[in-house]
Amino acid sequence: MKEKVKFIIGRIKAGRLQEMWRQTKWIYQYARHYWFAMVFYTLLGLVSTVLALATSYVSKDLVNIITGYDAGSVVKTFCMMIGLNVGTTFLSQISDFAASYLSMRVDAEIKSDIFAKILVTDWESLTGYHTGDLLTRWGSDASAISSGVLNFIPNAVIYVFRFISAFAMVVVNDASFAVFAFLGMPVSLILSKTLLRRMVNNNQRSAAMGAKMSGFNQETFSNIQVIKAFDLIRLYVARLKQLQKEYIGMKMDFQKMSMGTSLLLSTVGLLVSYASYGWGIYRVWSGAIDYGTMTMFLGLSGTLTGTLSNLTSLVPTSIGLTTSAGRLMDILDMPREDYSADDEVKAFLEAHRMEGVSLYVNDLQYSYRNGTEVFRHASMEAHPHEVVALVGPSGEGKTTMIRLILSLIQGQDGGALLTGGDESVPLSPSTRKLFSYVPQGNTMFSGTIAENMRNVMPEATDDEIIEALKLACAWDFVERLPEGIHSKIMERGGGFSEGQAQRLSIARALLRHSPLLLLDEATSALDVATERRVLKNIMTDEYPRTCIVTTHRPSVLNICKRVYAIRDKKCVVLAEEEINEMIRNF
Ligand SMILES: Nc1ncnc2c1ncn2[C@@H]1O[C@H](COP(=O)(O)OP(=O)(O)OP(=O)(O)O)[C@@H](O)[C@H]1O
Ligand SMILES: [Mg+2]
Repeated sequence: MKEKVKFIIGRIKAGRLQEMWRQTKWIYQYARHYWFAMVFYTLLGLVSTVLALATSYVSKDLVNIITGYDAGSVVKTFCMMIGLNVGTTFLSQISDFAASYLSMRVDAEIKSDIFAKILVTDWESLTGYHTGDLLTRWGSDASAISSGVLNFIPNAVIYVFRFISAFAMVVVNDASFAVFAFLGMPVSLILSKTLLRRMVNNNQRSAAMGAKMSGFNQETFSNIQVIKAFDLIRLYVARLKQLQKEYIGMKMDFQKMSMGTSLLLSTVGLLVSYASYGWGIYRVWSGAIDYGTMTMFLGLSGTLTGTLSNLTSLVPTSIGLTTSAGRLMDILDMPREDYSADDEVKAFLEAHRMEGVSLYVNDLQYSYRNGTEVFRHASMEAHPHEVVALVGPSGEGKTTMIRLILSLIQGQDGGALLTGGDESVPLSPSTRKLFSYVPQGNTMFSGTIAENMRNVMPEATDDEIIEALKLACAWDFVERLPEGIHSKIMERGGGFSEGQAQRLSIARALLRHSPLLLLDEATSALDVATERRVLKNIMTDEYPRTCIVTTHRPSVLNICKRVYAIRDKKCVVLAEEEINEMIRNF
């Protein structure tokens, strides 16, 4: 026997239940800040259970007084009954209010926490997830948790209490009725066991499907131009329909299963109440109990079967909750970035802001996780007031070098550091505050030009913004806009040409006054003359900036201090003749 118990406990520990327990603990680590509200909610539930039981007791008295079994005041008992009913209604409203307060607060807390955590998750790990998937996890899964958090432990406590107290009341009044309370139990137990596995499966499939659909919608809407241009409208509508068909099919499968379950449970409930009805009539007929007790028992048997099915319904709720928790934990379990050097970097920045900061990359080795080796013993350096270029054919590793410099990815060997005077700090996520970065593609946010600029420097004055726009050769077209720097930019730079949006992005980076500036093909959409002007402005600006640009176009190379070509996974300094040759052959 002991062996058997040990075996069962072992299986429980190793299997789903242990996983669910871990997920439950995770969920309640959010809810625990609201323990007071939760205890309040649970107490309300317990009190309303007591009121409901008292109501059945009073109704027994009332029936007995009316049928003449008992002496007593009808009016008084009736008033008591009404009082109890009003009390119950009132309590259930307060408890609904507490429930929605709790779930909204927990929702906001989970979402803001996960939002912040996703943002500090290691970039390379995060790229393994589609943004649609991330959005679904952050949105739907977090909501599932917050709205279900109450239905889990507090409701379990309330239901168990309700069951036990109703059962005790039955036993005290007529123990023979107690049998009926358990009639439905075997069916509920068997059902919940078989349901468990199928529900876990279904929940996971449904979440994966949701993520797929949200990814599809998001990609479609953000690439609407391409879809139109390639005449793919019909194809995309058909694809959506196909996805919807799959989704509905899956949901209907599940619905059939839950319909079967509900039918079975209701039938059991009906049978139990018929049986207690029959038994009650027999007991009254044989003179063992009075009418009042019978009505009370009928009410209580309803409470007992109802509570039992409530308890059974906690199974799907808890499965849904823990599945969602598991999906969020997948994300949160990924490695986080290390910002522990923040203070050191801040002090370093303050000490060397005026003289500028140099960058040294030494013997760096890097392969992506899929095995693509990009750098082997790569070294390069850049100093204040210099524009250093990084050139090379597409796919050689220019963007990868920028990512390494920004510590979005970490080299497997070798090092990279920033120096100011004779002090230095190694590159880490903390050193990003020393950089301004203009990536490939359009990166303006929706809002006005000024708002975009103040995103990176909240205290910037209009004059400072205009100064940065001038440096980036953007002022000539912004000046001509009717609303100037308060003109609206639409999503992803909409409303401006590609080259104008690039100049705005550069101006934003310059405004930040960071010691290091990284431009990744950030001038590719400009005409050569403007491109040269922008780079010259940056070089001659009195602020001591260290600037690294990647480019395909050799036309700007002869104004750069040094040009590195990525060759054989190394950074090679190009001699002047080579640069001139590149310019001639362009
Ligand atoms: N996230 C990634 N995971 C795996 N491999 C990657 C990833 N990003 C880039 N690569 C690979 O690393 C190599 C260098 O890519 P990178 O983007 O650095 O090139 P690039 O020089 O910037 O090219 P381009 O001029 O086209 O922008 C390429 O072979 C590319 O396929
Ligand atoms: Mg690139």
